[in-house]
Amino acid sequence: METPAIVQVTNLEKTYRLGNLTVSALRGVDFTLQQAEFVVITGPSGSGKTTLLNIIGTLDKPSAGRVTIDGEDITSMKDGQLTKLRRHKIGFIFQFHNLIPVLTALENVELPLLTAGIKPKAARERASLMLERVGLKERLSHLPDELSGGEQQRVAIARALANHPKIILADEPTGDLDTKTGSEVVQIMYEAAKRENASVLVVTHDPVVEDRAEKLFEMRDGMISRASQQRTPRESYRLRAIEPVPPEPARSLSQPN
Ligand SMILES: Nc1ncnc2c1ncn2[C@@H]1O[C@H](COP(=O)(O)OP(=O)(O)OP(=O)(O)O)[C@@H](O)[C@H]1O
Ligand SMILES: [Mg+2]
Repeated sequence: METPAIVQVTNLEKTYRLGNLTVSALRGVDFTLQQAEFVVITGPSGSGKTTLLNIIGTLDKPSAGRVTIDGEDITSMKDGQLTKLRRHKIGFIFQFHNLIPVLTALENVELPLLTAGIKPKAARERASLMLERVGLKERLSHLPDELSGGEQQRVAIARALANHPKIILADEPTGDLDTKTGSEVVQIMYEAAKRENASVLVVTHDPVVEDRAEKLFEMRDGMISRASQQRTPRESYRLRAIEPVPPEPARSLSQPN
């Protein structure tokens, strides 16, 4: 039996109007993301992947349809509620890391924690732990341009997961990396998310990411369909091989917006 859905998208439509031109970017998308799942959406350029991700991430609004996150209907929420939900429940990973160039790796991961009202000492501890988990214990004080592309993306993964989000949304997270580095980054993202019990939704053109999918979907012309179930015996063995992890200390997410 499947666990409750963390994201439920129902009959989602998005139409962009530019003067006389109308673009139907999403044309009735139904999609479910379950708790702790690693789901990948592929599809050609312009098929609506980023549009869907941005609407689920509350960065954009749909023209019609419904999105619920953790049981709450986001389509009827006000901006303040959306900001709060985004800050506490969603972590983003983009193609170009989006790290702040003048902040160190540690400070980049700390920042969203401090913004969410976590006390400085706890934020520093959590940020260090997350960077250690993505293999960057020795790089805490490096600035982004003193890190390789793969390392920068690992900082972005640590940052996205730092505040215990239930959902990670990743748009072409390996798009800027070579195949080997991309493969390592996907593996780290996968393991870090499993460890945190976070659900991951990745949109990508990259076959390396597709190979990791527990569920694979394909978008075409603003519509989505299930592509196939991906899980080789070796991968399921490796999944079981991930050690159980002690629960994280209770979060303090009391900061009002
Ligand atoms: N702000 C916008 N205004 C008008 N049209 C837009 C806007 N954003 C996206 N579109 C159009 O919506 C369609 C879907 O775009 P989207 O960015 O979701 O595609 P995608 O699948 O992410 O493509 P890619 O793989 O190239 O990133 C495209 O035809 C695009 O031109
Ligand atoms: Mg896109």
